[in-house]
Amino acid sequence: MPTVWVRFRDHRDYPIVIAPGVLRSSGPWARRRTRGRTAFILTHPRLQGLFGPGVVKSFQTAGFSTRVHCVPEGETAKSLESLKRVIGAMLQARLDRTTLVVALGGGVIGDLAGLAAATFMRGVDFMQIPTTLLSQVDASIGGKVAVNHPLGKNMIGAFYQPRLVLIDPEALQSLPLRQFRSGLAEVIKSAAIADAAFFAYLERQMPEILHRQTPVLTRIIAKTCAIKARIVEQDEKEAGLRAVLNYGHTLGHALEAYHHYNKTYLHGEAVALGMLAAARLASLTRMAAPETLERQEKLLRQAGFSLKGRGEAVDKLINLMKVDKKSREGILNFVLTPKIGHARISNKLTPFSVRRAIKTVVSGCQTAEDN
Ligand SMILES: NC(=O)c1ccc[n+]([C@@H]2O[C@H](COP(=O)([O-])OP(=O)(O)OC[C@H]3O[C@@H](n4cnc5c(N)ncnc54)[C@H](O)[C@@H]3O)[C@@H](O)[C@H]2O)c1
Ligand SMILES: [Zn+2]
Repeated sequence: MPTVWVRFRDHRDYPIVIAPGVLRSSGPWARRRTRGRTAFILTHPRLQGLFGPGVVKSFQTAGFSTRVHCVPEGETAKSLESLKRVIGAMLQARLDRTTLVVALGGGVIGDLAGLAAATFMRGVDFMQIPTTLLSQVDASIGGKVAVNHPLGKNMIGAFYQPRLVLIDPEALQSLPLRQFRSGLAEVIKSAAIADAAFFAYLERQMPEILHRQTPVLTRIIAKTCAIKARIVEQDEKEAGLRAVLNYGHTLGHALEAYHHYNKTYLHGEAVALGMLAAARLASLTRMAAPETLERQEKLLRQAGFSLKGRGEAVDKLINLMKVDKKSREGILNFVLTPKIGHARISNKLTPFSVRRAIKTVVSGCQTAEDN
């Protein structure tokens, strides 16, 4: 079964196991990676209904006692109040340092559970069982955990690596299509920045991917995890290289913030537009051949993204990009793809070309001129 190791120099290596049905053997997998006695499983009520009984049974069979704690769905669960309630539930259950915190859910659960694990009694073992495509290929890997502050998303957090990540591609069968597609944007992003052969594979296999055929899903998840693992193990705290994973995110984050994260765009939908803008920018500045833009646009369309903005004001978007926590001193950093499978970070773009690329993309009109 595909296993991707994330290797750090200081013995915090951990495996990402990708296997259909692996949810049902999560207990024995956890047993190999922790001395913990109690598994504290954090999830949503809906996911508890879908996956909870199988996971709990597997942990109990492997000798864990289990506690399940549910939080409501949605980004609001990533708050300090919610973290406090989770820690409160752990204290009331008299859990101690031998606890294993298990995140069973998407990125919201993973980020909240990870911060709970990082802070409960100064840190207990943590494992991820991601159940959305986005969390399987992105959020569960790399150790970024956080909750939101009213003044900014992910502003209270830590780098805290899990002991283990278990990915069951079959869990994606129940995921709403829009959520599934949102995760696909991160898959396409990884191929675009790091692996031309994988990009070509996605071009060939998109119908099978959209039909969620398990073998194809297993393959694209494993490949995307490997790309992220190779990047974060070289640059855990985003001093440099890790920033290439933000391809499409400069505009993507601004689009989400513009709409106050109200789901006008899901994260991946915003990133898809962001990638298109970046590809357009690379083409406009002649850093990349037109074909590099065309292939990305075509693949995003094949994946079903509507590559059109909602008439957002370009100036406001640019201002939002400048205050993003990833831009330094108001200078816009763009990750660009000079070729499929290669990434370069550029902060030397003229405001004219940035405006023009963004305007073209948000208006959905290929020939839009700067005004
Ligand atoms: N830590 C990181 O590196 C990182 C990276 C990217 C995103 N994130 C964070 O991840 C969060 C978004 O994660 P997400 O997109 O997974 O959203 P999410 O966790 O909100 O999940 C989306 C919805 O899908 C439901 N769901 C989950 N799995 C399901 C399944 N198998 N079947 C049916 N429904 C299912 C959830 O209950 C939820 O309502 C954001 O808060 C973002 O900041 C973190
Ligand atoms: Zn992302």
